[in-house]
Amino acid sequence: MPVTAQALRARCAEEMSRSPRGFAGAGWLYEVFLAVPREHFVPDRVWWPAPREDGLHSLIDRAERPRAWLKAVYLPGVALITQLDDGRIPPTGAANGAFTSSISSSGVIVELLRHLDPRPGDRVLEIGTGTGYTTALLAVRVGAGNLVTVEIDPQLAARAAGRLAELDLRPLVIAGDGELGHAAAGPYDRIVATASVRRIPPAWLAQLAPGGVLIAPLDSPFGSDLLVRLEGDGTGGAVGGFVAQVEFMRVRSQREVRSHGELGWPAGLDAARWRDLKVEAGPDGQRIHAA
Ligand SMILES: C[S@@+](CC[C@H](N)C(=O)[O-])C[C@H]1O[C@@H](n2cnc3c(N)ncnc32)[C@H](O)[C@@H]1O
Repeated sequence: MPVTAQALRARCAEEMSRSPRGFAGAGWLYEVFLAVPREHFVPDRVWWPAPREDGLHSLIDRAERPRAWLKAVYLPGVALITQLDDGRIPPTGAANGAFTSSISSSGVIVELLRHLDPRPGDRVLEIGTGTGYTTALLAVRVGAGNLVTVEIDPQLAARAAGRLAELDLRPLVIAGDGELGHAAAGPYDRIVATASVRRIPPAWLAQLAPGGVLIAPLDSPFGSDLLVRLEGDGTGGAVGGFVAQVEFMRVRSQREVRSHGELGWPAGLDAARWRDLKVEAGPDGQRIHAA
């Protein structure tokens, strides 16, 4: 008998329950994960993230290999690549290019949302809608009417809005530059980015309610992104620290490499002690320092 999506979802959830970076006791998140069909958001053709020996990424085509496709959807640690080179490479075969959109891995999304800890009724801003899957999890938790999500690629935004509506979830989906946030619906109790930044955009800080929480992957000098958790002071400033090591694709306008010194990172930090670092951010920039 073919294994069902529901069974794979339950298995994936069980696996993440056992991981210290998984649900970690967040019962609401476990429930929300089980309530949303991840497969509904995954395009029929996706690239596998690890390259083959020839350097190309294999294409998994649902029509040709439905079981492999579904299994890949529910591997907790795997992000499936949904766009290469900003969409210039059609999903017609194995290919190589820069990853520009994906469905984030279940494990990473669960970690992000656990640290975000949105409560029912919270006003939430998400940056980087992608497939709309993370948006759906958030919508189930806080109510779609409380949620704004911004995606820079208009085709992806339209597809995600359609997929969400098919599940009767209708958050405000905006095609635009998420670095600007969406002031008209702010301030927000929670802001989450699923694309990484080198510099925390001042608009996000300005749109964060007093005591609101911002979770975003921030580029670091340590060879990975670090997930920053900041609490807003309601006047465009925020303080906090790092809660996890992660890997994300960069927001479009921050792809260009900049020196870490210029971005508020002092020289000589001990990479092994990233958990001890403190972050202060405001309209004039960010400052990272040892506690
Ligand atoms: C890792 S994907 C997000 C995946 C999403 N969490 C999901 O589950 O499907 C990152 C997304 O951020 C988008 N993005 C990049 N720069 C952006 C920007 N400045 N504003 C809004 N979205 C942006 C990309 O187009 C991409 O779809």
